[in-house]
Amino acid sequence: DSRAVIFDLDGVIVDTAKFHFLAWRKLANDLGFDFTEEQNEQLKGVSREDSLKKILNWGNVELSEEEFKRQMALKNENYLGYVNKMDESEMLPGVSRVLTYLEENNIPFALGSASKNARPILKILKIQDKFSAIVDGTDVSKAKPDPEVFLIAAEKMNKKAEACIVFEDSVAGVQAANIANMTSIGIGDKNVLQEADHVFADFTEIELEFIEQLLRKEK
Ligand code: G6P
Ligand code: MG
Repeated sequence: DSRAVIFDLDGVIVDTAKFHFLAWRKLANDLGFDFTEEQNEQLKGVSREDSLKKILNWGNVELSEEEFKRQMALKNENYLGYVNKMDESEMLPGVSRVLTYLEENNIPFALGSASKNARPILKILKIQDKFSAIVDGTDVSKAKPDPEVFLIAAEKMNKKAEACIVFEDSVAGVQAANIANMTSIGIGDKNVLQEADHVFADFTEIELEFIEQLLRKEK
């Protein structure tokens, strides 16, 4: 059976991870504390709600249910302020070359993201029609590292989990891909993404021959 590819969105296809960081950091600062970039790694791939829980925990802050909801909405508003100013140029370098390669070779690919903003972002990038399936934060109940999002994406492409190759920039996402028994390709820092089957700093470091080889062999 031929293989298929699943892409995470934030920090893999598009440079929105920095906007999530800025928006979360503003929220923390407004509540009177700060967190580091290292702590931020633990937020990548994590749902909006779980992210806020982690952050409040770091700051030792407790909020009422109502205030928790208000802070989530504020964060998203702030985040969308950045997103709405962005255009196709925020696609990360080397990504479109890989998407074109996959299209030309009839390799199906899906999106597997925790974000509830995934569809509008793909639209801004004008790539929403390229995906065989889009699975995002509105489709799943269990957050990464639970493999649900990737398993649904595989199912929608009619592929077995083992046939799928996942591109991820987050620790939680790499773990989700591994738990699903997919091939995990980390995009980012080798020291952070130690659990991935392969790691590249970014897509410009990936030779098309490498992808071709992966596609040819079984996991
Ligand atoms: C991605 C990002 C996280 C973000 C999550 C939810 O996984 O890496 O930083 O918190 O999506 O995104 P959303 O756009 O729904 O707030
Ligand atoms: Mg990501």
